[in-house]
Amino acid sequence: MRNEASESATAPARSAPPRHIAIIMDGNGRWAAARGLPRLEGHRRGVEALRRAVRAAGELGVSYLTVYSFSSENWRRPPQEISDLMGLMKRFIRNDLADLHASGVRVRIIGARDNLAPDIRSLLVEAEELTRDNTKLNLTVAFNYGSRQEIAQAARKIAQAVAEGRLDPARIDETMIDACLDTQGVPDPDLIIRTSGEQRLSNFLLWQSAYAEFVFLPGHWPDFDRAALEEAIGIYQSRDRRYGAVSIQDAKTGELAGA
Ligand code: IPE
Ligand code: IPE
Ligand code: MG
Repeated sequence: MRNEASESATAPARSAPPRHIAIIMDGNGRWAAARGLPRLEGHRRGVEALRRAVRAAGELGVSYLTVYSFSSENWRRPPQEISDLMGLMKRFIRNDLADLHASGVRVRIIGARDNLAPDIRSLLVEAEELTRDNTKLNLTVAFNYGSRQEIAQAARKIAQAVAEGRLDPARIDETMIDACLDTQGVPDPDLIIRTSGEQRLSNFLLWQSAYAEFVFLPGHWPDFDRAALEEAIGIYQSRDRRYGAVSIQDAKTGELAGA
């Protein structure tokens, strides 16, 4: 027989909403191809989807949003597409920075800077400096980013300190490695969303995603909207995050059995 008390004892606990959502914004090219449009049009519409995602994340009370916009491996694309993507990044910062700042968004950019054109480099610095004190939403843009490169760079930094006698190798731990990554100061993602149906990380946040939940959405990035974000959050909240332990429900059952 079911009654209210036994139902509430067995209902799966819904986890808290994600504090940090990271998105692999994929499928711009396929979105365009399906409409007989050039890939550039897909990327342009992708920027509009990014604006919607930032707005929706703010409205839904997400504290950290990280988006993958250009990977270290995207340099393998044709030169024209690379130049289109660089142009869109510049335009995004020039057009949207004032609005992002007015909405209280703090912008961080992770990824390598040394092989970027000087005009892009200075826009990235401008975006970070202008919004440094904002606290409403933390937006991290992974641009020219590769997680393996980021980890290698952290290893170099730590090795240098050891070589100079400033660091005892016995003191190297997870916290120290965390602090040497580009994402230093940003909590690990709770939820990673990838659009367009692909189920891989493509060199995104490998270290940071150790205990992230993954949600793969079939739709292409240019169609992403608040409803898609809410759907992904709903799936996330139905998951049981155990971090290697047992779930709260199982722990309770164990206690009862032992009693
Ligand atoms: C994501 O869309 C944008 C970037 C990777 C820069 P794609 O350009 O990868 O689109 P598909 O995967 O070819 O459809
Ligand atoms: C990952 O997408 C990078 C970004 C979304 C910026 P890709 O389209 O480059 O990834 P692969 O090549 O399908 O793995
Ligand atoms: Mg792709």
